[in-house]
Amino acid sequence: MEVENRLSGNSALAGVSTCWPKLSAPEQAVIADLLEADQGHLFADWDEPGTEDQAKAAFLDDLLRINESYPGGLTGYIANARDLLAEAKEGKNPFEGFVPQQPDTVNLTELNEEYDRYERLGRDHFDKTAFVLVAGGLGERLGYSGIKLDIPVEVTETTTYLAHYAANLKAMESRMSSPRPVPFIIMVSEDTQAKTVASLEANHWFGLKKEQVHILKQELVPAIADNDGHLALKTRYELVLKPHGHGDIHMLLHTSGIAAQLEEQGIEHLVFIQDTNGQVFNAVPAALGVSVEKGFDFNSIAVNRIPGEAVGGLAKLVKGDTQLTLNVEYNQLDPLLRATISPEGDVPNEQGFSVFPGNINILVINVATYVQILKRTQGIIAEFVNPKYADETKSAFKKPTRLETMMQDLPKLFGAEEKVGVSIFDRRWSFSANKNKMADAAVKHAAGGPSESAATAESDFYLAGRMKLAAAGVQGSESAEELIHGVPFTRGPRVLLRPSFALTLNEVRSKISGGSIADEATLILDGKDITLENVELAGRSALLIKACDGAKVTVKNLKVENDGFELVKLTDEEQASDATPEYLRIRGYRIEDRGAKRYEFTEPGEYVVEVDHVP
Ligand code: UTP
Repeated sequence: MEVENRLSGNSALAGVSTCWPKLSAPEQAVIADLLEADQGHLFADWDEPGTEDQAKAAFLDDLLRINESYPGGLTGYIANARDLLAEAKEGKNPFEGFVPQQPDTVNLTELNEEYDRYERLGRDHFDKTAFVLVAGGLGERLGYSGIKLDIPVEVTETTTYLAHYAANLKAMESRMSSPRPVPFIIMVSEDTQAKTVASLEANHWFGLKKEQVHILKQELVPAIADNDGHLALKTRYELVLKPHGHGDIHMLLHTSGIAAQLEEQGIEHLVFIQDTNGQVFNAVPAALGVSVEKGFDFNSIAVNRIPGEAVGGLAKLVKGDTQLTLNVEYNQLDPLLRATISPEGDVPNEQGFSVFPGNINILVINVATYVQILKRTQGIIAEFVNPKYADETKSAFKKPTRLETMMQDLPKLFGAEEKVGVSIFDRRWSFSANKNKMADAAVKHAAGGPSESAATAESDFYLAGRMKLAAAGVQGSESAEELIHGVPFTRGPRVLLRPSFALTLNEVRSKISGGSIADEATLILDGKDITLENVELAGRSALLIKACDGAKVTVKNLKVENDGFELVKLTDEEQASDATPEYLRIRGYRIEDRGAKRYEFTEPGEYVVEVDHVP
């Protein structure tokens, strides 16, 4: 009755009033709630029934969908927005009174015995681990027409990110004493959902079981027009919708019940990964080991950071008895330091690094703790708002804003009980993303920053392979870095030790002994039971060995000499042509086979490849 009074008492709502009897109960309910929340403008000047009915229905569908997906519904979202906007207007400093200190860190930048020890611990924990891939981002900076997960991380064999991630999960399963599927949760958005599912289906789920993959879709949230939390309209019957950020993953793991289910299934840690970081699985085993040994509820995988670098810094913030280890955006860190412990701001240590390591958003989270926090918060994790005000009175915005959330902010909700730690890895071993288009990547490189592009991601992908060979004592040198269309690339050696072959350094050492690799050579090993003894790759030679499960292949005393693969830069014409695959155009080169030596073993059995005994 109250709604009817509201409708009849306001001439602007006459249209919606005449439509009212035809609306469904849920539609009426959401309108009533929104009127109650001072959102009458959303329904002002509606046309009579019979005019614009489709637009009205689509508008109401949007309202109902968002109302359903956001914990607390639209009115909860509006209430949160009002609180956060009031704080933003007040200019409240979230770090007021906090003093930054170095966080609890474990240094894993050297691939030494300690590293091996953590890898062993992590490996024993594979059967209690699940992976969460946030892949809802549009990738505007890269501007690729497809989804980022479908981009090949390397173009020697063109392995896509999704294929690479799935291969790692399969490899983990094959190393468990009693194998079980590793749960794989993928967060998608309207922008990425259809193509992600299509890619999985077209590739038979990359060998994974369909049931182990859970797809969760994040929704957009309504933009807010002013400090009073009025939702913004694009047209009379259309909201302005914007992404809420990757922190949505926490909400979805809660509302879907998946986090709780995983806990019941005995999963102890969730590893959160991004769409285009081909290096991540290099760090995963040791990072898991750290989480297990140190009992970290939240373990941030991080890299050494140079003071002032545009990467969030991980800091322990202390105020009285409160201690929070958080990611502090780099532009907030420096003023915070100046206002507290360091008048010079963020200063380098003896090695030239900030004591606040750089966040790369690979997170290892303890599931039991996580489920408790999700229950308490309904999965709404540290939302924030960042309005661009029209002037210093802060009374109007330049354009509508929205609430946002970032997955790394979970520890903002931690109390004294929860343990947060930071594991510092070698940067290019653990992180090299593909975020920028080639031209922008070149500009970034020229300015002295990381390019984070398709070419650098591929170059680093091979680098990690070289680091593994070096750890096994294989001799070899690296070719000099060159610029391809202004983006740095190291030609080789190009080494791909597939996850099936080895997941830890110890495994690499146990399977490769002696030998050498020349600076432009290529080595690809794919299969669990391949061993190399004194294998030499000369010049630009390439050796590819693939062995199916059950095929035990020993390669020994072999000197490989062939024309291998050649890296060919795209001509200007090829670069501009639609006939050139887009995944090549984003890197500016292709890799051509000029006679690589391939051995493929498709039947179980024992095989030896040696100088005078080549099967
Ligand atoms: P990025 O920083 O790469 O952002 O996100 P982006 O949105 O994909 O790319 P730009 O900024 O438009 O160029 C880091 C990770 O978070 C995911 C991305 O897919 C990527 O894996 N992400 C980002 C989401 O899942 N949802 C979001 O709303 C935003």
